Amino acid sequence: MSPLIIANWKMKLGLDESRLLAQAVKKIPTGSTEVVICPSFPSLTTVSAVLARSRFALGAQDCFWEPHGAYTGAVSPETLHEIGCRYVIVGHSERRQYLGETDEMVHRKVAAALSAGLVPIICVGETFEQRQTGHQDYALIQQTSRALEGIALTEDQQLIVAYEPVWVIGTGQAINPDQAQTAHQVIRQTLIDLFPLTLVTENIRIIYGGSVDSGNVADFVRLEHTAGVLVGNASLDAGAFAALIRSV
Ligand code: 13P
Repeated sequence: MSPLIIANWKMKLGLDESRLLAQAVKKIPTGSTEVVICPSFPSLTTVSAVLARSRFALGAQDCFWEPHGAYTGAVSPETLHEIGCRYVIVGHSERRQYLGETDEMVHRKVAAALSAGLVPIICVGETFEQRQTGHQDYALIQQTSRALEGIALTEDQQLIVAYEPVWVIGTGQAINPDQAQTAHQVIRQTLIDLFPLTLVTENIRIIYGGSVDSGNVADFVRLEHTAGVLVGNASLDAGAFAALIRSV
């Protein structure tokens, strides 16, 4: 499978900045690498138009769990699909931290995204405190299994689990690839306990996120059972992002 690079632009760019960055990104040669761009909600339609008929896929940073209704301010996965999204990030640690997103909410969003035909990118990861107190594996197992328990994944559906250690996000200092490998094994074992092995192998990808840049990306994508990376800061500059894609 070709390596997967997902750019999470977070709330870091305005509408004009998003359009300009998308226009610059569209010119980057990707080779066999699959690249997904996740702009903020207001920029999705603009970026979707820029990236139309390009090799770049579109993703959203969140979705609601209902297809429509009286849910002020929420955006349904169906609407995201209509805009041109193929992917959606769910359960990012910033949403868990600042917006009170729970494992139960993540679970409902995963189910809704799948039924709308989107590929959910489920973020899991331990806090520094959980790591220091020896609860890292427990946190990963809990978040992964609560997000996915009872989800009937079919052969034509895909999902992605992104391991993002909360304490390295945005620090410029990624974890050691060996540590990521250990975490990915824990996640993979949890997935094997939930789904048939063929689905885990063929329909589910595990990726790493947290201070990935052009200098360290190759160390992560070459890990066993690691299909790619989720990138924040290093995806906000077309030059830096091009260098990152080249390194893969
Ligand atoms: P950084 O690459 O800026 O650490 O962000 C990672 C992230 O949170 C991607 O979702």
